[in-house]
Amino acid sequence: MKLYIVANRLPVKAVPRQDSYTFVRSEGGLATGLDSLQISMEKHWIGWPGVCVDNARQQIEIRQHLETMDFHPIFLSEEQYHDYYEGYSNSTIWPLCHYFFSHTTVRKEYWESYQKVNALFCDEICKQVGSGDWVWIQDYQLMLLPGMLRKRMPNLHIGYFHHIPFPSYELFRILPERAELLNGLMGADFIGFHTHDYMRYFINAVERVLHIKFDLDEAQTDSRIVRVNALPMGINYELYNHSSATPKVWSEIEKKRILFRNHKLLLSVDRLDYSKGILHRLQGFETFLERHPEYQGKVTLAMVIVPSRDHVESYAGLKTKIDETIGRINGRYSDINWTPVCYFYHGFSFEELTAMYFVADVALVTPLRDGMNLVAKEYVATKVNNPGVLVLSEMAGAAVELADAIQINPNDTDQIADAIFTALQMPYEEQAKRISKMQAILSVQTVNKWAADFMEEWKNVVDKNQYLS
Ligand code: UDP
Ligand code: G6P
Repeated sequence: MKLYIVANRLPVKAVPRQDSYTFVRSEGGLATGLDSLQISMEKHWIGWPGVCVDNARQQIEIRQHLETMDFHPIFLSEEQYHDYYEGYSNSTIWPLCHYFFSHTTVRKEYWESYQKVNALFCDEICKQVGSGDWVWIQDYQLMLLPGMLRKRMPNLHIGYFHHIPFPSYELFRILPERAELLNGLMGADFIGFHTHDYMRYFINAVERVLHIKFDLDEAQTDSRIVRVNALPMGINYELYNHSSATPKVWSEIEKKRILFRNHKLLLSVDRLDYSKGILHRLQGFETFLERHPEYQGKVTLAMVIVPSRDHVESYAGLKTKIDETIGRINGRYSDINWTPVCYFYHGFSFEELTAMYFVADVALVTPLRDGMNLVAKEYVATKVNNPGVLVLSEMAGAAVELADAIQINPNDTDQIADAIFTALQMPYEEQAKRISKMQAILSVQTVNKWAADFMEEWKNVVDKNQYLS
């Protein structure tokens, strides 16, 4: 019995180097979180290796390397990358699920490609799995896949987790293909969401679009019961909590302490994405500097932005605006000894990132919408004998568990400015108390616990269906 984790993106990506490839850790919460998963079953991944390769020799080279880690690559053509990944996944579903209706593009070729790529994943899975295996599909890029698989292998165990918000019916109904997507998801035995609200919105959409009634968390379809639940994804708590004890991370911490020794350090870490509220955050920081001139020269905002989906128009435009806004703030406030915003437009290694978490006095996590947000959890987990303050958007799924953060409405830049001031003024004991209350939660609700809870409920539904048939 094996577990197949199926996701658009594998936890490592192939990066072209000279005439070969190197393999690096993928960014993004789904990949970083699930990569840490320890489970008793033999675990395999199926997904895209992060690069388009049409040369057969290069495909073999990538496949051979990845298969040593039980990662099975699915290669996408340039056209599929454009229409399925950048198109339907990231220009249609992503903006809609994050309440950015104005960024939502509906195009026939995107939808056609989305169907074809989901079918490609289906073919690959059918080649690899046996009927007693467990296939756990991840996220919005593969919403049709549970239904496609169910048709091909009716007795296969199929789970699905939705890592982004599921929007209210009023938004979801905008999608012309809403019924196909919901039918696709209903091919799973068990469907998980990060929060109770996302789950309720899904149930509501199924009831109104497909006219299938739910009795609490279960619906009876023609042949099976489908169950849903809210299971907030956690992190590998020990990994982050012990990181400062490793010599590599500690040496990074010492370097950063020297670098920022005279300053309070505010930190933000995101993929480049309009859902992350980066411009509002910058505006909030600028307002803070205006209102509190006593902090000028004494506070630095380190902003780590990881390039993401940069050929999609709404992302490319955002990059330009961020560059301009940072330029404006730095131009207005910097002096020879101080630059208010320290901007990095590239990914950080685990060691550098955890060192930044450790050193930062305040983490600013202010997305306008976010399914969960693991950065908030990683920051809290990394703090050992050295507290700090988490400023967290109430629009992030993580806000449900992290009630001891300073929670703000990220649309209100004045609230961001006030929260920065409150965080910088917070006494050490209060910081320590809040961090330790949040750590108590995160150390229990880990990624392994999340997966174990998911598997347990999934097995229960499978057993119930077998008993009823
Ligand atoms: N991350 C990383 N390197 C970086 C910046 C971020 O590996 O330079 C990771 C970070 O540790 C986190 C993930 O990317 O695990 C981001 O996940 P999150 O849930 O916060 O947001 P997402 O990108 O999934 O929307
Ligand atoms: C979010 C999504 C993931 C996605 C990640 C990175 O976490 O829920 O499915 O993998 O962002 O985005 P990318 O488009 O680079 O895979």
